[in-house]
Amino acid sequence: MRKQLLGLFCLLAGAASIPLNTTSPILKAALVRAPPAIWSEPILSRDYHGVDINATTTLGVSYIERAASEGANFVAFPELWFPGYPRGNDAAWIKKWAKQYVANSITHGDGNWNRLVAAAKRNAVYVALAYSEREGDYIYMAQTLINPAGEVLIHRHKLRPSGGERDIWSDGTVDGLTVVDTPFGRIGLLECWEHFHPSMTFPMQAQAEAIHIGAFPYMPDYGVVGAEAWEAAEVNMAAASVYATNSGAYTLIPVVGRAAAFYPSGLEMAHISANASYVEHPYLLVSVNTTGFTRKPAYDVDGEQSWGVLEQIRDGWPEGVPKIKGEFTDRVLNSVYDF
Ligand SMILES: *[C@@H]1O[C@H](CO)[C@@H](O)[C@H](O)[C@H]1NC(C)=O
Ligand SMILES: *[C@@H]1O[C@H](CO)[C@@H](O)[C@H](O)[C@H]1NC(C)=O
Ligand SMILES: *[C@@H]1O[C@H](CO)[C@@H](O)[C@H](O)[C@H]1NC(C)=O
Ligand SMILES: *[C@@H]1O[C@H](CO)[C@@H](O)[C@H](O)[C@H]1NC(C)=O
Repeated sequence: MRKQLLGLFCLLAGAASIPLNTTSPILKAALVRAPPAIWSEPILSRDYHGVDINATTTLGVSYIERAASEGANFVAFPELWFPGYPRGNDAAWIKKWAKQYVANSITHGDGNWNRLVAAAKRNAVYVALAYSEREGDYIYMAQTLINPAGEVLIHRHKLRPSGGERDIWSDGTVDGLTVVDTPFGRIGLLECWEHFHPSMTFPMQAQAEAIHIGAFPYMPDYGVVGAEAWEAAEVNMAAASVYATNSGAYTLIPVVGRAAAFYPSGLEMAHISANASYVEHPYLLVSVNTTGFTRKPAYDVDGEQSWGVLEQIRDGWPEGVPKIKGEFTDRVLNSVYDF
């Protein structure tokens, strides 16, 4: 039922008198790698000077416009690019900066949100946003896929923010793990360490993506001394490559610094060094010929990410490992009024 509704939705979107360039099967994606408006260099700097959502939205809109003028029909942003990923967000950071950060988070329907949706429409591009979203008393690590008609196809919150993130942003819900039909084939979104966890990758891969957007916050080059394991290219790009192999999807990585793209095989398709100029190369441009993608099946009943495999994991739960549900998966909600 859900799939039929989505199919109908796409037909309606295609029928409207909007400048959708569906005549070309070539997905030309701009994977943003330039930093938001306030950002300290070098890439691993912990020097934090706050964020500015208004200036960052202006910058983001300028990248959408520039990419569209270079023929891109898809623009994707790094994790929390709006208003900027806070490197080194410990308890002291929360005390000093969390209130300012909350004030710089986006609410759907506010001025910055409307500017971004308008930019997608005006430039007739798909936009994959990644941002801190204020919804009621909470902020979430949000991802949205907007089509060239300005319609929201996917809106999700990171299921379990990683490490110290989980003291700031609230948990999302599993219904956000959705893949949607587009004229370029089925597209899905995850961010950063979600690529390591089967509880997030399995439901996505069961829905057979053709194109996967993996937003990471920032990435040094390989071999950079001083990178912690959780921020190193060696660790994160390994997860992205394995994700591509397991999903069979083109896996595109917008990230500040070393942006990259992987073939469905898991081999690297393209990258730009974190050293490259942000002014000359604010994004990595990659083209994918999507001919035939819309005819790919939306589920493989005999696949590695199928119901049968899920049942096998449950039925084969190792003898001696207690079947106890701990508190780890309970939803964490952090009121912004406690910061
Ligand atoms: C559609 O995209 C193709 C390939 O990128 C381009 O050559 C063509 O001019 C575009 N058409 C429109 C109407 O934008
Ligand atoms: C962004 O700009 C609007 C309109 O000028 C202003 O009301 C708002 O306070 C600004 N937001 C921040 C976080 O500075
Ligand atoms: C990046 O720049 C540093 C410092 O100039 C250099 O040592 C390193 O080899 C460069 N890395 C790449 C991948 O170009
Ligand atoms: C895309 O792939 C199809 C099928 O392989 C091929 O016929 C077409 O020429 C390709 N288009 C481009 C622009 O490479």
